[in-house]
Amino acid sequence: MRTIRLGIIGIGGRGFGMYSLFRRHGGYEVCALCDVEPKRIDVFRALAREDGLDADEAFYSDLERFLAHPGLEAVYVATPDYQHVEPSCRALERGLHVLCEKPLAVNEPDCRTIGEAAERSGALFYLGFNLRHLPAYERAREIVAAGELGRIHMVNGKEYYYSGATYFQRWNRFRQYGGGMFVTKLTHDFDILQYVVGQKIRRVVAFGNLSVFRPDAPGPEALHAPYRQLPGWEKRKRLMAVGEPVDQGDVDVNLYTSEKDTIDNASVLLDFENDLRGVFSFSVFQARACSGRELEIIGDEAHLRMASGRLTIEDRHGRRRRVEEFDASGGHGGCDEILVNDFHRCVAEKEKPRATWQDGARSVRVGLAAQRSLETGGVVEVTED
Ligand SMILES: NC(=O)c1ccc[n+]([C@@H]2O[C@H](COP(=O)([O-])OP(=O)(O)OC[C@H]3O[C@@H](n4cnc5c(N)ncnc54)[C@H](O)[C@@H]3O)[C@@H](O)[C@H]2O)c1
Repeated sequence: MRTIRLGIIGIGGRGFGMYSLFRRHGGYEVCALCDVEPKRIDVFRALAREDGLDADEAFYSDLERFLAHPGLEAVYVATPDYQHVEPSCRALERGLHVLCEKPLAVNEPDCRTIGEAAERSGALFYLGFNLRHLPAYERAREIVAAGELGRIHMVNGKEYYYSGATYFQRWNRFRQYGGGMFVTKLTHDFDILQYVVGQKIRRVVAFGNLSVFRPDAPGPEALHAPYRQLPGWEKRKRLMAVGEPVDQGDVDVNLYTSEKDTIDNASVLLDFENDLRGVFSFSVFQARACSGRELEIIGDEAHLRMASGRLTIEDRHGRRRRVEEFDASGGHGGCDEILVNDFHRCVAEKEKPRATWQDGARSVRVGLAAQRSLETGGVVEVTED
């Protein structure tokens, strides 16, 4: 297998998680790390050692020096959402292949800037929509494309998430840095819905609120306390302890009382092309036991339901029923490993990425339209490509 010399920009939570996958893959040589916060490297190295890896790669706090690291061929951009533009564009300008985290960016001009840099560059730009690699979604897409459900008219999705900790402790609780929940989180979902059904969302209406993680919640201290007992909470604190781009003081910031300008639950009505519609709902205060993504696609011949790594396909008149089970172990149900493999394949074999900057920009535009709808109470058209 060809060895790709890779650098990682942004060595926080996600950068750290993906680092071990790149290291263990066998086809990458991770040769350089970059973070604007030099103190990050000590935490990173200590955590890597605990995972049985020596993170002895060259470390840079200056982007240009990092990009000039000898022999660097590709970079993985895992900076906060509002910081994807500069690292991606500078890398593309130098002809380096880029795997960039979702969302592409937090506003339309930044999406365009990355898109233009990707078009100008001869290098690969691969948007890290890891869910596109989840075998159950891939199979659902195949079933729709094969016409097994007949003509599809409805697609409904849900994301139920337990720990608001990811969203209300850090930079992504501010729209300026994460684009708001419809962008920082639902970019995955707006993308996967369009990907699976092979159609674009044209219009949206959103209803939502910050209903639970509010400063005026009764007993916010007591309500916050169970989160501190979560497995991984201490590690999260160590990862957050340095280098937060938003100066927020206490890393154990209370999820309820923290300042924020985004929401914790919403339902979005989606109007697609071709007589197809649906609703997507999310909450980030779900009971732990009920966390997860679900999907239903309703055609005029059959119905597909996806939940907990299982697809159930039932024909409309009750004559046939089929269940397909998928192994959902590994990072994000196994799709992180597959993404790392596929990026390698695309670089090594000069293949097209599964998700392009255009896909990323489209899902950001859907998220921004949902945000506008929430603010105006109206139906909002998704801006065209
Ligand atoms: N695909 C997924 O499932 C998934 C999961 C988690 C996070 N993410 C995405 O990964 C990205 C990183 O998220 P995170 O949770 O690791 O954030 P984080 O805050 O834990 O880490 C980000 C790191 O980037 C550094 N940084 C900030 N600006 C920088 C710059 N200009 N140059 C270099 N370093 C810079 C910060 O100091 C920090 O160390 C985000 O875009 C997030 O949405 C994706």
